[in-house]
Amino acid sequence: MSIRYVESKKLFQIETAHSMYQMKINEIGILLHTYYGEKLGNMDMSYQIPSVERGFSGNPYEISTHHEVSLDLLPQEYTSSGVGDHRISSIDAISNNGSRSIDFRYKCHKLLSSKYSIEGLPYVRAHKDDVCTLEIILIDEIIGLEIKLLYGVFESKDIITRTVELTNIGKTTIILEKVDSICIDFLNTNYDLIHFQGRHCMERQFEQNTLNHDIQTISSKRGMSSHQNNPYVILTELATTEDIGNCYGFMLMYSGNHKTEIEVDQTNNTRLVMGINDDYFRWELEPNSVFHAPETILTFSNLGLNKLSQNFHNIIRENICPIQFQNIQRPILINNWEATYFDFDYTKIIKLAKQALEVGVNMFVLDDGWFGNRNNDNAGLGDWIANESKLPGGLTKLSKDLKAIGMNFGLWFEPEMINENSELYKSHPEWVLQDPSRKPVISRNQMVLDLSNIDVQNYIFKSIDKILEGSEIAYIKWDFNRSLSNVYSNALPNSKQGEVSHKFICGTYSLLERLNSKYPNTLIEGCAGGGGRFDAGMLYYCPQIWCSDNTDPIARLKIQKGTSYGYPVSTMGSHVSAAPNHQTGRDVSLKTRGIVAMSGTFGYELDFDKLTDIDKSEITKQIENFKKYYWIIQKGTYFRLTNNKENSFYEAWEFVSKDKTKILLNMVVTNIKANSEIPRIKLKGLEKHLIYHIEGTKEKFTGAALMYAGYVFSLNIEDYQSFQILLVLEK
Ligand code: GLA
Repeated sequence: MSIRYVESKKLFQIETAHSMYQMKINEIGILLHTYYGEKLGNMDMSYQIPSVERGFSGNPYEISTHHEVSLDLLPQEYTSSGVGDHRISSIDAISNNGSRSIDFRYKCHKLLSSKYSIEGLPYVRAHKDDVCTLEIILIDEIIGLEIKLLYGVFESKDIITRTVELTNIGKTTIILEKVDSICIDFLNTNYDLIHFQGRHCMERQFEQNTLNHDIQTISSKRGMSSHQNNPYVILTELATTEDIGNCYGFMLMYSGNHKTEIEVDQTNNTRLVMGINDDYFRWELEPNSVFHAPETILTFSNLGLNKLSQNFHNIIRENICPIQFQNIQRPILINNWEATYFDFDYTKIIKLAKQALEVGVNMFVLDDGWFGNRNNDNAGLGDWIANESKLPGGLTKLSKDLKAIGMNFGLWFEPEMINENSELYKSHPEWVLQDPSRKPVISRNQMVLDLSNIDVQNYIFKSIDKILEGSEIAYIKWDFNRSLSNVYSNALPNSKQGEVSHKFICGTYSLLERLNSKYPNTLIEGCAGGGGRFDAGMLYYCPQIWCSDNTDPIARLKIQKGTSYGYPVSTMGSHVSAAPNHQTGRDVSLKTRGIVAMSGTFGYELDFDKLTDIDKSEITKQIENFKKYYWIIQKGTYFRLTNNKENSFYEAWEFVSKDKTKILLNMVVTNIKANSEIPRIKLKGLEKHLIYHIEGTKEKFTGAALMYAGYVFSLNIEDYQSFQILLVLEK
């Protein structure tokens, strides 16, 4: 087992293939965090903890003459609160007498030979028996609160998962105001923080800052993981690059309000806590009840950021996304949104489907506008009944007719939303998240349904279920087009309003779970105005997520690259759209649009009437290539070949097939220069002494030449030009 407990030293040691994680129970039962990083053998790492008295750092009563022992200075595995540690804490709670003091001590622990699960929330799945669990229970006997720290160890994948479970073992209600899923203390400073910020149409932009003293926060309180701040951060040692150096990744498997805080303290230790955002959070933990926090996924790499990302890619592909979509080729889509927007009818849809079929597309996705009174974004959300004036015979006829021409059918929903102008609102105004004493905030003309209410969940489930039972639908696009505000449930008493945001996202998870179990082969693609809910929580139910409403390939390079730090390309919804692009007006060749969209789940979203015959035959070829490269792209090892710190005028990236015999190299010029220098692209992950040839040519190179000297493309005088070549290992 990859977990050891050494009783004589009261030491817990977790080991994965390339990392080690250590904790120790100290003389008064505080669970110390002693180490996370490169493997160091069987060393008790507590020798690193300084035994130094410092002013204004108080001492626990039972050891108060030991002035060097202070919670304010010790590295801890999960903090207490209000009892002498003045740094950020991982919990905040109020007990019956109004006190906010919580003081945890070690109670007991267990080693289990399988992975734990979490009730009502997504978690990393264990398929093999090389995953085990460490359970450590801490207790505050005075308020009657037990906290179970859970560790799942995916040894061969270099992944440790963590979560916590709180149980009220007392006789009175405890009000939880903050419950983090993880706390981790490093006895070092000098880290850079990398995180992924953005906005609608420009999600997950890489940002790197050196940590300074005090607290930096990465968070969302929009009721969704958000376009603005992804629930994923990286700490790197300062010299770390894509391929060299130490770095740590922390990903929260959660799609609602989240917060990560990182503090560099007075003596240069670094603490990171991550979990549900405590803003808008207040949970009444009644006697004998349990609160489950979302899971966090941790990995360490001593080979830079590429390896760190690859660790996340493997675990997400194999242990998070629904397993039934792992080994099948996903559909190549035509989506009618950017082709027609709301302006379509049966004839237009069938025509577009036939045109797309001819070039090799195999799934038609009918986007927004097919239901209720939805002719624009003012009305109809909530009324999930086909609009027969646009689609005579409804979805049953449309899906049959598509099937008859050999096209699979997919359908857009926005289940969690409602328009004031809808039949649903007329019959159930109380189902909206809304403070009854005020007018609601309206966004994109819509409001949000109260998913914390089981009646609302049942209504949505029944509406979708009825459509899936009545037509052959192989795919659902699950959209979510606004942030939450007026978060108030009419179904809950005033004292429980602080629970609504979390119960809302649990309601969404429960709906997705019901659909996944009844329709396991219906592929659900997540979406939230593009990539506003691109997170590991959604990926548990939806193996792919529409990456951004920005389909401009040059903007997409940055969005998809930012996304790649945490998430595999097999999860990134990406389509070829029109030129000039609808979001930026940029005019980019079909070739470049194809190369960028291929590093994702692939499809088309444009009006085929506007294509020439030459375009159509180029698309046919693109689809053939995509099919040929499918497994290299979707399951191969992905490497970023351009560094964010360099001011490069191109982007390059590569996929190495699982058996390492094929390498797909991609390059796009993003800002051509006059009289340009020559880019020499250094490949990665090849065998030094072996020979590779470029498919379709006589060119041959040693792996060493390609990795250490680089491959040279000859550039034209043309912006946004692109290259894609396949290198094949010589037998
Ligand atoms: C969101 C999605 C788009 C499209 C529209 C339809 O913005 O991200 O792809 O489905 O909604 O309203």
